[in-house]
Amino acid sequence: MSRALPLLAGLALSIGAVASGFLIGANHLEGAQLAARWTSRVGLPVFLIAYLASSLHKIWPGDLTRTFIRRRRQWGLAFAWTHSVHLVALIYFLTIAGMPPEAVTILGGGLAYVMIYLMALTSNNWSMKKLGANWSRLHKFGIHYIWLIYLLTYAGRLEDPSLQHIGIIGVGLLILALILRIVARWRKKLP
Ligand code: HEM
Repeated sequence: MSRALPLLAGLALSIGAVASGFLIGANHLEGAQLAARWTSRVGLPVFLIAYLASSLHKIWPGDLTRTFIRRRRQWGLAFAWTHSVHLVALIYFLTIAGMPPEAVTILGGGLAYVMIYLMALTSNNWSMKKLGANWSRLHKFGIHYIWLIYLLTYAGRLEDPSLQHIGIIGVGLLILALILRIVARWRKKLP
């Protein structure tokens, strides 16, 4: 897998999410809402590859899972890109809708953005060396915090009859991903 592939995939997914949102939305406002929604949705598979790369390789060692590990840094950066597009899209939507977000969303989602950018900025050998054990603490906390924000967002969809199916798929994928991480960790501990 080429180094550029994860970033190109992130770029194509984000452009596709914004373009299809505005094409499918019945008017400009609905288009902006769909673009905000879909820019985060397309980030989920990118996030899950970065979140699961090493667990998948522990459970199913092979060429494909090895390439996920080798390109994990690029998948993480691709996720930071897709969520930067989500940030621009959601600010645009909330501004034209005249709908300020709730304080809890700004705090919870805002901290997720702090983690996304801290992780992106420290995704290099120099930072790994400088931060030592704190590097893996930062990245472990950050990736699970982002997982939690995704889970809470999709869990919120379960109450909405028109979006319940999206909530079920999102929550299901995230719980399955956590189970795979636990299984991989547990396997490592077996003699
Ligand atoms: C301050 C930060 C954030 C704000 C204000 C915000 C706001 C929004 C808005 C306005 C939408 C569209 C809502 C709609 O469908 O009407 C949206 C969708 C979404 N956001 Fe964010 N967001 C933030 C950060 C995040 C983060 C960090 C994540 C994930 C880690 C996330 C996950 C999602 C998901 C999954 C959806 C779409 C759910 C679906 O597929 O239907 N958001 N967000």
